[in-house]
Amino acid sequence: MLYRLYQPSDFEPLYAIEEICFQPPLRFPRSYMRSIIRNSDSATWIAEESEHASKHMAGFAHVEWAGPDHDRYAYIQTLEVSPEHRRRGVARELLTHLEQSALAAGAAAIWLHVDTENAPAIRLYQAHGYSQQSREEHYYARLRAAFIYSKPLVTSH
Ligand SMILES: CC(C)(COP(=O)(O)OP(=O)(O)OC[C@H]1O[C@@H](n2cnc3c(N)ncnc32)[C@H](O)[C@@H]1OP(=O)(O)O)[C@@H](O)C(=O)NCCC(=O)NCCS
Repeated sequence: MLYRLYQPSDFEPLYAIEEICFQPPLRFPRSYMRSIIRNSDSATWIAEESEHASKHMAGFAHVEWAGPDHDRYAYIQTLEVSPEHRRRGVARELLTHLEQSALAAGAAAIWLHVDTENAPAIRLYQAHGYSQQSREEHYYARLRAAFIYSKPLVTSH
C-alpha cells in the first residue's frame, strides 16, 4: 500500500469512497468535499494499492489546522477506507500521516467528531491514543450524536 498526498485527479475515486462509506444525509456533498480539500491549511492523504500495473484507491483522510502559531490545533474532517480494504491497518496508517502533517504545520493537538454508534472508528481512535472529551447531541445532520475525541501532539526532540 502506498500513502501519498492528494492530487486533483484523485477527486472522483475519493468521492466514490465517500459514496460507499456514507449515505445522505450524512454524506459530505461534493462541493463541501472539494472545498475542504482546497483549503491551503489542510492535508489530504490517499492510500493507494497497486495491482498488476493498475492503481486503486483504498482510502483517504483529511486534516485541517487553524489558530495562531502559539495555539494551533488540527481537526480531522474524515477518514475513510473502502470495505474491501478494511482491517488491514490502512486507517491506522492514514491517521499517522494526518498527525504528521498536523505536527509539521505546528499543531499542538488534534481533535475530531465521531458518531457515538461508530464502534470501529471509536476503537481505532482509542487505540491510537485519542481520549473522549465530550458529547454533542444532534451533531450529524441534526440527527445523530457525536463524541469529541482529542490527542496532544508531541514532537520527538
Ligand atoms: C473506521 C474505519 C476508517 C477503519 O478502517 P480500517 O482500515 O479497517 O482500520 P484499521 O485496519 O486500520 O484498524 C485499526 C484499528 O481500529 C479498530 N477497528 C477498525 N475496524 C474495526 C471494527 N470493524 N471493529 C472493531 N475495531 C475496529 C481496531 O482497534 C483496529 O486494530 P486491530 O485491527 O489491530 O484490531 C473504516 O471502518 C471505515 O472507513 N468506516 C466507514 C467510514 C467511517 O466511519 N470513518 C470514520 C469517520 S470518524
